[in-house]
Amino acid sequence: MGEPVTGALRTVDITVPATSANLGPGFDTLGLALSFYDHLTVSSFDDDRLEIIVSGSGADEIPTDATNLVVRTIAHVFADAGRPMPGLRIVADNGVPHGRGLGSSGAAVTAGILAAKGLLAGDVEFDDDALLRLATELEGHPDNVAPALFGGLTIAWIGERGPAHKKLLVHRGVAPLVFVPGFTMSTSLARSLQPPQVPREDAVFNVSRSALLVAALTQSPELLLDATADRLHQDYRGPAMPETLRLVQALRQAGFAAVVSGAGPSVLVLADGPGHRQDAVELADSVTDTPWTAHMLAVDVRGGTVRNRAEGST
Ligand code: HSE
Repeated sequence: MGEPVTGALRTVDITVPATSANLGPGFDTLGLALSFYDHLTVSSFDDDRLEIIVSGSGADEIPTDATNLVVRTIAHVFADAGRPMPGLRIVADNGVPHGRGLGSSGAAVTAGILAAKGLLAGDVEFDDDALLRLATELEGHPDNVAPALFGGLTIAWIGERGPAHKKLLVHRGVAPLVFVPGFTMSTSLARSLQPPQVPREDAVFNVSRSALLVAALTQSPELLLDATADRLHQDYRGPAMPETLRLVQALRQAGFAAVVSGAGPSVLVLADGPGHRQDAVELADSVTDTPWTAHMLAVDVRGGTVRNRAEGST
């Protein structure tokens, strides 16, 4: 654990996992926390300073002024709590690939939410529903921020009282593998390619696969191939990321449960056993000229954490 930062009112250390949203049929609903991590140290000051130091993924593109997403999120939470925004020093080391469909913006929002929670601890307290509500207000949909906050597999929805989630533990036989390309994809472009209405049979198709996917991920990994089929978003978005769709199709034809990770362009394979992942890597090497970097990951079961340097965990 680091030392308190000189002159700071408070210093908190934050860790947030990557996430893969949708998982095929569960558009805007299902999400899985994965073992890439952003690490941040956030200190508050009794002045108006703003210092942001970023290293790791996306460091060259991430703004270091008040438009920074972590800063905007902290400001949103302080305003929501009716507290004045403190001066901030943020040191971020990002391990979540940036702009690749692995929840980097959800991770930034989650980091900001947890930073504000830690900086306000003892004055303002937040329960899980409040954290998810605040994160969803910033991110727009809860499917990335729910697993980033809580870990594991999450079902997220907008209920009668706002954003809500159910966390489930994933069957130990499920082995995630992620293929990350060198190019990025814009979530808003991907969303713009989807029609406002879909045929009823496609809606029914996704309802059945989403229900099956919850069973496959928690109890029956052998059902993952059928359970990860989708008709609501992947094909519509395909023209914006043809290499991604090609890899998904090649892997699925060979029996691997492959999906577009989030809004793309990474590909997530949910292998039904760690031993099968190497076969998927070899197949990917043989079917595409695109340089994909394969990462064999674990499901993160903990979700984001925040620790106050002076006072221990919060
Ligand atoms: N469910 C979202 C989408 C995830 O696919 O657009 C990306 O933020």
